[in-house]
Amino acid sequence: MHLTKEEREMLEGRRGEGVQKAMEILTALGDIYNANKFIPIKSAQVSGVSYKNLGDAGLEFLCEWADKGIKIKTPATLNPSGIDLSNWKDIGFPKKFVDKQLKIIDAFRRMGIRTECTCTPYLILMGNKPNFGDHIAWSESSAVSYANSIIGARTNRESGISALSSAITGLTPEYGYHLDENRKADFVINVKTRLNKISDFGALGYVVGKKIGNNVPFFKGIKNASSDQLKSLCASMAASGAVALYHIEDITPEAKRGIIKRDAQEIVIEDEDIKEGYKALNSTVKEIDLVAIGCPHASLEEIESIANILDGKKVKSALWITTSRGVKEMAEKTSLLKRIEESGGVIVSDTCMVVAPIEELGFKSMATNSGKAAFYVPSHCGLSVRFGSLERCICAAVNGVWEDD
Ligand code: F3S
Repeated sequence: MHLTKEEREMLEGRRGEGVQKAMEILTALGDIYNANKFIPIKSAQVSGVSYKNLGDAGLEFLCEWADKGIKIKTPATLNPSGIDLSNWKDIGFPKKFVDKQLKIIDAFRRMGIRTECTCTPYLILMGNKPNFGDHIAWSESSAVSYANSIIGARTNRESGISALSSAITGLTPEYGYHLDENRKADFVINVKTRLNKISDFGALGYVVGKKIGNNVPFFKGIKNASSDQLKSLCASMAASGAVALYHIEDITPEAKRGIIKRDAQEIVIEDEDIKEGYKALNSTVKEIDLVAIGCPHASLEEIESIANILDGKKVKSALWITTSRGVKEMAEKTSLLKRIEESGGVIVSDTCMVVAPIEELGFKSMATNSGKAAFYVPSHCGLSVRFGSLERCICAAVNGVWEDD
């Protein structure tokens, strides 16, 4: 890589040990991917926050960096942690886990990172929304896909450590999705079925991600899609495959002439494919212990939909709506929080159903409308999962059982 004088000094340790360590990581990454140079970034989003994923080794590593006085240079936010940072006692997270998690959060705080933990930092309420064309270093896969595809910002799928290193140096190696030539579509996905619900987009993402891996798809045939539906598509396609960027005709900002590669292959998606997606993400469990909505973290609009469906009913299963602290505060101001709590639901912030130790809270089964959560929870948490529409999930929360069609 070609380094400027200042970057060389950073790498040689003349700007402090922390900057040097971060530069070593980023230079190695740049060399692996044949980057020519570094580019400045506008923001970082750091994953690898939950103690469940980091373990003691990760905790020690972060504390060591914070103890050395390493500080970030570029604004950064965190991905969900393993607990609700303000309400962990009431929810019943194990004390031992909480203590370790709080140490991790404290290490990030000492490095200067905002400690709101969310995978939807792009929602306007959270104040970390990039602009079209901004170069950023984000690591949560669904947020990477949203930033690249829906906003038109530019980021690779960073690891927690590379995103943290970019936050410390303000730089990222220029390769991958930072370059025009890698943002072109390898596949045309011709959607010949109607998608109505958030879960339909989750099922589509699951099916397409499985088929195309880490390639870039261009969707045709999707006429309308809300931001919540698009974030569901981002999350499931990044989970079953490793899709970090997609385009949708007439919807996403880069879906213009010339964005499809000449040799792009076509895949047709019909009703049967979506049904197969639902089937693959469903177990046969009947009794539902936990209904968890908000993967990626729920928007205020989603919380309002849940409050409307609940409409004064009481839930039998536990009902979690996972979201960011900012959105929860808005829900409180607009009485949505009160309406959800009166029905027995909980709005959980700073964590989610995948990275929280839900298996240690006694839950054995879960229902969700998120393709990503349905994909990960069986392997990460050991719960049996039901995947379906928001209406069906809330119905399961009220009745305590999953109703088949
Ligand atoms: Fe976010 Fe957790 Fe889902 S980090 S995308 S809510 S798995």
